[in-house]
Amino acid sequence: MKPFVSIERKRMSSRILIISLLVVFASIFVTSQAADQSKKLSEVFSAADDMAPERIFLAVTAEPATSQAVSWRTRPTSNTLQAQIVASPGGPITEDEATVVKAMVESVVYGDGQTMFHAGVVFENLRPSTRYAYRVGDGKIWSEWNHFRTADDKPVPFRFIYMGDQQNDIKSQWSRVVRDALLKAPDARFIVNAGDLVNDPFDDRLWYEWYDAAGWIFRVIPSILTPGNHDLRSNGADEIWRPQFVLPLNGPSGREELSYFVDYQGVRLISFDGNAFDNEAQLEWLEKTLADNPCAWTIFVTHQPFYSTGSKRDSAERREFIVPLFERYGVDLVLQGHDHTYGRTSKIHTGQIVKPDEPGVVYVSSVSGPKMYKLNRRNRPFMVRMAGYLQLFQVLAVNGDSLSYEAYTADGKLFDAFEIRKTDLGETRLIDRAPKDEHPREEDFYNEDKSRAAK
Ligand SMILES: [Fe+2]
Ligand SMILES: [Fe+2]
Repeated sequence: MKPFVSIERKRMSSRILIISLLVVFASIFVTSQAADQSKKLSEVFSAADDMAPERIFLAVTAEPATSQAVSWRTRPTSNTLQAQIVASPGGPITEDEATVVKAMVESVVYGDGQTMFHAGVVFENLRPSTRYAYRVGDGKIWSEWNHFRTADDKPVPFRFIYMGDQQNDIKSQWSRVVRDALLKAPDARFIVNAGDLVNDPFDDRLWYEWYDAAGWIFRVIPSILTPGNHDLRSNGADEIWRPQFVLPLNGPSGREELSYFVDYQGVRLISFDGNAFDNEAQLEWLEKTLADNPCAWTIFVTHQPFYSTGSKRDSAERREFIVPLFERYGVDLVLQGHDHTYGRTSKIHTGQIVKPDEPGVVYVSSVSGPKMYKLNRRNRPFMVRMAGYLQLFQVLAVNGDSLSYEAYTADGKLFDAFEIRKTDLGETRLIDRAPKDEHPREEDFYNEDKSRAAK
């Protein structure tokens, strides 16, 4: 037994030596591989930092059942900027099956002097009610694959989100609102944004905050954007708005992408640039767009309200120029921002509150960001719900002859609700479902006497 043991021990010793050597070699190999990997990874990331597409954003097109717009931004430009699209498969995506669309590119000089390149494509000839995967890049460095879904070509029920001004302290204070909106309505087909996206369109830090706050939401749910006064220069110039977004071109000549309309599953949504509310060409275009409307429902989106709820504001001229068109052509609902307060009217016709089943228009202005104004007392008689010092998001549902609306505060509480029902003849009835609580609170109103005393 002994020799055997001794031989075995020798064998064991040599095995241990060999194994130890292998472990040492292996660990040296692994360490050098890891160092190599990390080097390669850091190279990839530094290249990606410069070249990676950022600020990827979907916008609803004029033909949402068969097309989809996407825009993004790059630091250096390239003549190979492009997007790829494929009907979403259940398994891994094969690049060879994707269709390539070459991007349009426009440069923008921001306030800090940096030149950035905004790219965009419109995917066309898509199938209705179909989920697609897309990515954007330069042919070498790509975004992740994202999904979107085309609209149905029939007026089937759907929901969407509507939000007022984001504007200030966007990353810190708006993130929770936009994210909760999506959690409340994960099936939302688009987001209506009533303008004042950022306080200063040339301040690139604010745009960074805006895209970062929404995260991937903007990459998977398209938006309908209406320009606010803060989104354009004070003279109405749009050096950043139009290069940055790919919006419908069916607006008035020379004002495309600022005013436009979208027909989405039985609803005509009209985005109207309220910064130029008295522009004649735009008013002519609006009348034509309202008169020639195949949809059962009409929703008008603009930034500046017709019945202001923000301190010291009024909009008599806007009412004079535009409201008669609403009443002539049967606009159902007007969605607005600008006043940094919440206000929702009863049905109004020719400047008077009317009965729920009489012809009339419901007006809402809301705010989703943290900038807050005091309430305006002037239009209080028109308001069913009114509030200051609340951030809100809204979820709307269209289901055949019913349009329902819910407004939620930033902490997720239902603040306002109503429904409009429509007959085949186009007659409507307003059904109020607003919760009963202490709003509007006296302390939220602008106090004219106090303000005078202070001066
Ligand atoms: Fe505004
Ligand atoms: Fe604003």
